[in-house]
Amino acid sequence: MIEFNIDDNLLKIETKNTLYAMKIVHDKYVAHLYYGAKSDFLRDMYKEYPVDFAPYVADIGANFSLNTVSTELSFFDSGDMKDTAVKIKNANGDSTTLFYYKSHRIFKGRCNFENMPYSRNADETLEIVYVDEVSGCKLYSYYSVFEKSDTITRYAKFVNQSENVIQLCQVNIAQLDISQGEYSVITLCGDYAKERNITEYPIHNGIQRIYSKRGHSSHQYNPFIALKEISATEDEGEAYAMEFVYSGDFEAQAEKSFDGKIRLMMGLNRDTFSWNLEYGEDFWTPEVILTYSNAGTNKLSQNLHDHIRTHIINPKFVYAARPIVINTWEAMYFNIDEDVLLRYAEKAKQLGIDTLVIDDGWFGERNNDSIGLGDWYVNRTKFKDGLKIFSDKIHNMGLNLGIWIEPEMVNPKSEIYKRHPEWVLQCKNRSGSLSRKQLVLDLTNDKVIDYIVEKIKETFAEVKLEYIKWDFNRSLSESGSLFLPARRQGETKHRFMLGCYKMHKKLTEAFPEVMFEGCSGGGGRFDAGILFYCPQIWTSDNTDPVCRLSIQKGTSLAYPVSAISAHISDTLFNNLENAPDYDFRFNVALGGVLGYELNILNLSPENEKKVREQIQKSRKIQPLLLQGDQYRLNGLEDGEFGFICVSKDKSEFLLAYQNIGKIKRKRICLNGLDDTALYKSESGDIYRGEELLNEGIELPVNTMYTYFHFTIDKY
Ligand code: DGJ
Repeated sequence: MIEFNIDDNLLKIETKNTLYAMKIVHDKYVAHLYYGAKSDFLRDMYKEYPVDFAPYVADIGANFSLNTVSTELSFFDSGDMKDTAVKIKNANGDSTTLFYYKSHRIFKGRCNFENMPYSRNADETLEIVYVDEVSGCKLYSYYSVFEKSDTITRYAKFVNQSENVIQLCQVNIAQLDISQGEYSVITLCGDYAKERNITEYPIHNGIQRIYSKRGHSSHQYNPFIALKEISATEDEGEAYAMEFVYSGDFEAQAEKSFDGKIRLMMGLNRDTFSWNLEYGEDFWTPEVILTYSNAGTNKLSQNLHDHIRTHIINPKFVYAARPIVINTWEAMYFNIDEDVLLRYAEKAKQLGIDTLVIDDGWFGERNNDSIGLGDWYVNRTKFKDGLKIFSDKIHNMGLNLGIWIEPEMVNPKSEIYKRHPEWVLQCKNRSGSLSRKQLVLDLTNDKVIDYIVEKIKETFAEVKLEYIKWDFNRSLSESGSLFLPARRQGETKHRFMLGCYKMHKKLTEAFPEVMFEGCSGGGGRFDAGILFYCPQIWTSDNTDPVCRLSIQKGTSLAYPVSAISAHISDTLFNNLENAPDYDFRFNVALGGVLGYELNILNLSPENEKKVREQIQKSRKIQPLLLQGDQYRLNGLEDGEFGFICVSKDKSEFLLAYQNIGKIKRKRICLNGLDDTALYKSESGDIYRGEELLNEGIELPVNTMYTYFHFTIDKY
């Protein structure tokens, strides 16, 4: 619900459990008042006071300084000396930016984006209109409300109404000023094969910043940032988060000033973004999701999970049974062989797997990673009768078929590149870098997009497919475009991203029944932007179950179980004394959507039996995992991992717990259960909800790894 109180000039946004409040002051400015649990004490929150060295607004008086007042948006060189959210370059050459509040309106629903991912089905939206009187630029700042998931999203539109060209230099459209408290900053950092590990430090004076300049959201820093009270736990205390619905270059930061205030911001990366707005043109920013919890980081994550499931992921797929796949990559790499695939399919069917996914290597001359990328026609040496006949054979065996693509890229050794060297991103007269022996297509050019989309459509026109894995295997460098004029080169990276989204839209619309899985050399593009098109994303190329524990735990901070592809493989990197067995691997895969990525023809009879049982179990518990509330277990030590997933009606839950640190833990308290209910375990033991919450559950001493599935006792 959004309300305007004219007596106090107060604008209030309420969700189920939160209140966001701002105040229009001196008719021209929008001050930030409050974001937190519902409260009746907003009236006295706004304060003005003089501070030395804080520039003040001359015609209002020394008490009013943009440096000391908390604001909804801050503007470069306008008296706010902290890092500011919005910067434009005026036609006169200066960059001083100051937008004044002009008006606002509240409306049902939201502004939908044509060319970018966004959060669907908003309840209501607040539009605040600002004008920069010097540049003639108008700024429409939006707050869309999603009451049930306790989330608000922020996005904006800039419109140039002057005769001159205005350059947008920085658009950190989500800003949150927090006045007091001792906080830690949480980010999800990592690297290739080590994605999204939780990084948490007490905030210190200055700026703590994460970013991507790679043209994809990146393995290194996920577009997510949270502030958590230092004393908060998974289950208690206050926390705030921002998450970008965007897959390209971004920045997110927390700045603590000496007055103790903290400013959280997220937006496009200022180093790699600029945009020329000509007369009458507009520019829409991508969207940032904001949430608040006063019940620890579990509730923070649950809000984001609910938001992503209800408002980002395609509703057609979000709760539908997910395919249990056998993916060829780790067992075959580029050695795709039709006969072996058919044997895989036969075995997969016996095991209960439902989808065979042919990974890289099925097209063009693609026998290794140096050749053929971009040539989207089937390799007739590998598939003698073509893909249609092969697909028919697979379907006749009662299996579904999936296939791998990487539409944004080419090898220099490819037919497409030979014909169109001008179609890749490049800077005039500068030699470019290769990465994984490939180059990036210039998706600022619609012709390139249309060509690739048509080729892929043509290749799959007759082929029945149920699954497409969409990969992206290099970061961008030398990201110039021969297609764009010199004055628009600063727009290349964002235009490239818009081109990627256009491609995603076209291909997902061309194959509306197909489940798309996102991927980027593992989890290099794991973000809410991609989830708008692909209901799940390949989490990491690291499939070692021990390494996966911290990757998946970090990922769960911002993304639901249903988004996390988790395959059981035979690749082990860890140095535990005993290699994790198939039970352990399965328990870890419960943190995501189960699949297999190994040579299923080589399974021992014992493991074959295990896989069969795992698949049956997985089908039974998948609805709970896709739809339930996930609570990471509280108070774990290093080497312990675990969560419970509780159905929304609390009638059922699943506990996954792993102890790789040899910690002598006997009991663990659970969360989120109905304290009055009786729960029955798979083995028939009955527990009172209250007991599980307060005294905890005893963990079997003889196994290091365990998994339980409880249902509520009916009597
Ligand atoms: C990187 C992906 O993460 C892998 O799973 C696999 O699809 C390879 N690319 C194929 O080139």
